[in-house]
Amino acid sequence: MEAIQLSELYKIYKDGDRETVALRGASLTVQPGEFVAITGRSGAGKSTLLSLMGGLALPSAGRVVIGGTDIAKLVESERAAFRRETIGIIYQADNLIPFLTAFENVMLPLQLARARNTSRRAHDLLKEVGLSERLRHKPAMLSGGERQRVAIAVALANQPKILLADELTGELDSATADQVMELLDRLNVAHGLTLIVVTHNKNVAARARRWVSIADGQLYESETGYA
Ligand SMILES: Nc1ncnc2c1ncn2[C@@H]1O[C@H](COP(=O)(O)OP(=O)(O)OP(=O)(O)O)[C@@H](O)[C@H]1O
Ligand SMILES: [Mg+2]
Repeated sequence: MEAIQLSELYKIYKDGDRETVALRGASLTVQPGEFVAITGRSGAGKSTLLSLMGGLALPSAGRVVIGGTDIAKLVESERAAFRRETIGIIYQADNLIPFLTAFENVMLPLQLARARNTSRRAHDLLKEVGLSERLRHKPAMLSGGERQRVAIAVALANQPKILLADELTGELDSATADQVMELLDRLNVAHGLTLIVVTHNKNVAARARRWVSIADGQLYESETGYA
């Protein structure tokens, strides 16, 4: 079964009497375990596409099927549970809860999912992203790159089948970005994690095994990530 199936997606934003057509007939099929980089200029619709893939928003028209489930057929509470169990999302602007520590931010999704050994698991995740020394720090006390790494630990907490990442290495220095990409690469190869990464970074795109560019609201396969 396909991991992600997007058929003829349209997304039209209305604000007042102004309409922005962010996607116009975008289609894409991703198999489990694929590693896809999505590129395109600013405003092309990349974050919009990820929000639809992640079930955070619904398309104006078209269908989003994730692991065989048509997300439009779920009510909001079902969609939230489905998202929690299936999909990890790393947002373009980090989405950490400001009054919780790094450790508590990672604990939250584990507790929501009623996972076992939550504390041990949160420690392991933060260790994996190199933040064992920053457990008790709140987001405001962390650097941009550290916050992004906490966001990665949060996204991976419930062992999602699919990870969607929007410019996740944007604020990381190249050594840390490499380290984070190594981790994702390892999860992709060893655990078959399906990875969708929006990026402008050539080194990140070069790690992907498939490249899709977005222009005029549509998706195009490309030979490399440099198009
Ligand atoms: N909530 C919204 N309301 C109105 N217009 C929006 C909204 N979100 C996005 N847009 C518009 O939709 C288009 C696509 O936006 P999107 O955020 O998907 O682009 P992007 O490819 O992620 O850009 P970037 O590389 O700058 O992050 C843009 O023209 C944007 O201004
Ligand atoms: Mg964006």
